[in-house]
Amino acid sequence: MRNKSWIGLGVLVATTLSASAAIAQTIGFSQIGSESGWRAAETTITHNQAEQRGINLKFADAQQKQENQIKAIRSFIAQGVDAILLAPVVATGWDSVLKEAKESEIPVVLLDRMVDAPKDLYLTAVGSNLVHEGRVAGQWLVDKVGGKSCNIVELQGTTGSSPAIDRKKGFGEAIAGHDNLKIIRSQTGDFTRTKGKEVMESFLKAENGGANICALYAHNDDMAVGAIQAIKEAGLKPGKDILIVSIDAVPDIFKAMAAGEANATVELTPNMAGPAFDALDAYRKNGTMPAKFIQTESKLYTQDDDPMAVYEVKKDLGY
Ligand code: AHR
Repeated sequence: MRNKSWIGLGVLVATTLSASAAIAQTIGFSQIGSESGWRAAETTITHNQAEQRGINLKFADAQQKQENQIKAIRSFIAQGVDAILLAPVVATGWDSVLKEAKESEIPVVLLDRMVDAPKDLYLTAVGSNLVHEGRVAGQWLVDKVGGKSCNIVELQGTTGSSPAIDRKKGFGEAIAGHDNLKIIRSQTGDFTRTKGKEVMESFLKAENGGANICALYAHNDDMAVGAIQAIKEAGLKPGKDILIVSIDAVPDIFKAMAAGEANATVELTPNMAGPAFDALDAYRKNGTMPAKFIQTESKLYTQDDDPMAVYEVKKDLGY
């Protein structure tokens, strides 16, 4: 039986739901796609978490298209699921479908990315502080280069997505006031290895074969891994001739760090589903309203953090 009022009627919710506590929940998950190792891990972990908790998970892969996510959400609503997890590909354009879910009394939990929509249209959001991630990456570079002059190229995530917007902002904030650091080129690599490599090749060509470039900031590790390949093919040494800082902490970036070909990454946990299911469970059982934003940690890793050991720990986690 579905939660009959997820906005405000806590007591009624608690009473109604205590009787149905033993009934298996059906939860729809609208996933963006599989653009990165990080995303693959999030998908695997969500399935595992659902299985461990006896949740019937309905999974929909949107293949990077918002229209597919909107269709999936409408289909979840039509099926009468108990809750919906949404990893929104872009930030805008969600109001109507979120209103439909609300009118159907189905709580929606956002995973890893934010939306530009009224906060009452979703129950909670689980994710990192994406601006902070960018700041951590930027601060690492500021400290690393000291007073030296440094031209930076930036590989942005998917245009219009909240991580692309916020990671750019945070990095910009960290380097602001350091006139020796300058972003000379910035373009989307769509969070993929292929596009990261392709765009890095064009940066290298445009910047004297890479001689003008001191550092790469990539909004995710997969683009950095693609770019590392491009830098090697251009006859330069990634991690030395061009410093590499990125975000996610996927196993492959630790392999690259162990080989001296990447310098730093900011970790984003792929376990968004655990806190999301906990929040939904508490809400369903006794009407506990979760915090509007459940924040995960953002840890910086560098070559000093025994990257091969971290790789060994992470390699079988579903990335
Ligand atoms: O929203 C999180 C971002 O999306 C990850 O950093 C990236 O790898 C992914 O595809």
